[in-house]
Order: sequence, then C-alpha cells, then structure tokens
Amino acid sequence: MPGLFITFEGGDGSGKSTQSALLAERLRGLGHEVVLAREPGGTELGVEIRHLVQHRRGHVAPRAEALLYAADRAHHVATVVRPALERGAVVVQDRYLDSSIAYQGAGRELDPEEVRDLSLWAAEGLLPDVTFLLDLDPAASRERLGATERVYDRLEEEGGDFPTRVREKYLGLAAAEPERFTVLDAALPAEALADAVAARVLPLLG
Ligand code: TYD
Repeated sequence: MPGLFITFEGGDGSGKSTQSALLAERLRGLGHEVVLAREPGGTELGVEIRHLVQHRRGHVAPRAEALLYAADRAHHVATVVRPALERGAVVVQDRYLDSSIAYQGAGRELDPEEVRDLSLWAAEGLLPDVTFLLDLDPAASRERLGATERVYDRLEEEGGDFPTRVREKYLGLAAAEPERFTVLDAALPAEALADAVAARVLPLLG
C-alpha cells in the first residue's frame, strides 16, 4: 500500500497520545495527509465497544475481552486505516495489535500467540510499518496518572504486578521484531522523544 502506518505502544500514562499528536502535527506541517487514529474507540462502533469493555462493572471473560478488542480493530482497520493507507496517507495511531498481545497476553489466561493470530485475522494481516514503544517504569506511570479508577480496577482484578507483566511483554515483542519496533525511554522530555520519533519516520517519507 502506498501509505505509511505508524503505531505508538506503551503502558498507560507513557505519553502515546502526546507523541502521536506531535508527530501528526509535524507531518502535516510538511504537507503530508495524516490520519490520527486510536484504538480502542476509533470509530462509532468502536466507541460502543470501548464502552462495553472498559466501563462495564464486573468481570469480562478473557476470551470475550480479547474478541471485543479484536472486533473494534477489525472495523477500524476496514473502515479507517486501510482506506487511508490505500490513498497514500500516513496513519499515526495510538495503540494497535501489540496492545492486545501485551495486555490480554499479560492476563495469564490467554496465549499471546493466539491473541496475535486473532488480531491479525481481524485486521486481515495488516502490520504497522513502524512501531514506537514508549517504555516506562510502571511506578513512574502510576505517578503520572495519579492512579485513575480504571487502572485500579484492573490492578485489583489482575494482581499488583499486571503493569510490570505488560511492560515485559512489550519489551519481548520489541526484541522479537527489531526492524519494526523502536524502543524509546518514555521518561525523556516530550520534545526529545518527538525528535527521536521524527528522526525515524522522516527518512521513510522521502
Ligand atoms: P484508553 O483510555 O482508551 O486509552 P489510553 O489508556 O491508551 O489513553 O484505554 C486503553 C486501555 O485499553 C489500556 O489500558 C489498554 C487497553 N487495551 C487492551 O487491553 N487491549 C487492546 O487491544 C487495546 C487496544 C487496549
């Protein structure tokens, strides 16, 4: 496809939305068509799915949760991401399938390989050209977030080391696919991160 698909990954509070917005702004300034996207909830249907999976009180079975994220992804890729890439746009996205592998895979009940296969089926095999992992110590992210209710719900449900397991899963994914992933220290100032991101992306746009 003629476009470029860039994703940002990392734990909650790692600065993904800030960095995706900064990259989108920089690329637009250079005259590129940029679609700034997010998962979950990048479409109208996705907003409903996000609500279902995140704000529902009570337990959601792990396979149901994985399928809901995959359903959100399937619709988002088919209606937003793929059409944008086909017309040559740059898609800058906050979270994609690596989030499913890291989060649903860190829940202990699901095999990360199966979660990856499910997502790839949902997305008809679409992988990002470049993925930035904003890596941050969970203690630092908790401080940044001020420990929101949702994070706490999750911690209670999954046990206190869930953010550490997510981080380890992400680092394992990055090590397994070094040509796709760039790991950045999310504790760096936002401007320094934005420069490192641009240094990786700009050469790909000619
Ligand atoms: P949200 O508030 O939408 O965004 P963020 O925290 O990135 O600002 O919450 C996203 C949450 O959903 C986050 O805790 C990670 C989780 N998630 C999954 O568990 N699996 C997935 O496939 C995706 C995309 C997100």
